[in-house]
Amino acid sequence: MPTDQMEVYKKEVGDVGASLIQSGMKVGLGSGSTAACVVRSLGRRWKEEGLRFIGVPTSNATAQLAESLGITLSTLAEYPELDIAIDGADEVEKGSLNLIKGLGGALLREKIVRYAAKRFIVVVDESKIVDQLGDHTPIPVEVTPFAWQATAKHLEKIGAKISPRKNKDNSDFYITDGKNMILDCNFGIISDPVKLDQKINAIVGVMENGLFTHCTDEVLIAGHNGLSRMQKSS
Ligand code: A5P
Repeated sequence: MPTDQMEVYKKEVGDVGASLIQSGMKVGLGSGSTAACVVRSLGRRWKEEGLRFIGVPTSNATAQLAESLGITLSTLAEYPELDIAIDGADEVEKGSLNLIKGLGGALLREKIVRYAAKRFIVVVDESKIVDQLGDHTPIPVEVTPFAWQATAKHLEKIGAKISPRKNKDNSDFYITDGKNMILDCNFGIISDPVKLDQKINAIVGVMENGLFTHCTDEVLIAGHNGLSRMQKSS
């Protein structure tokens, strides 16, 4: 998909995601380029419509963006329960709405914020929809830097092909906002995401992984046919 078209889709879905927010809500603000479109759209509504809510960011980058737009921010320490969280995803599995998240490196905070929220809305362009997870994205696994090689060995034993994530200029390991490392773990096509999620998180040294299973209420998708929605089947 051409980059320009992708940007149009992200903006479209960002606007629709932002339209779900009402004054007085406590809102988890996701990370990544699509979630940034939601935040920018919320910034416009803040300025033009007088929308007022409390935002809880999932990353330092999102906090910076929201602050630059004048949005009031707080933390889960202050507001441990949120009305809604909106975030992007790297892959969305049709039907289950299970996700892979974390290519942007914020998966631990994203998951904590998601589980603090009553509703979780995912905003994506159509390239993110897959029949089964693992189609084109590894599972990012956030690990404590101490003896990460030992943690990597355990991950290999359960079937992962591992690439420790580096900074864009390849100079050093990528370090998350929480001062951890990310091991991008390729497991191929994932037939049982719930079981794999449990197996990964049972490994000592793992802080969290990028599988988000059975926790998405609705996915908003921008694509060549306009906007569509997929909802959790109850
Ligand atoms: C950030 O850690 C991620 O979970 C993002 O939500 C995900 O990578 C999607 O990002 P884009 O919207 O930039 O594709």
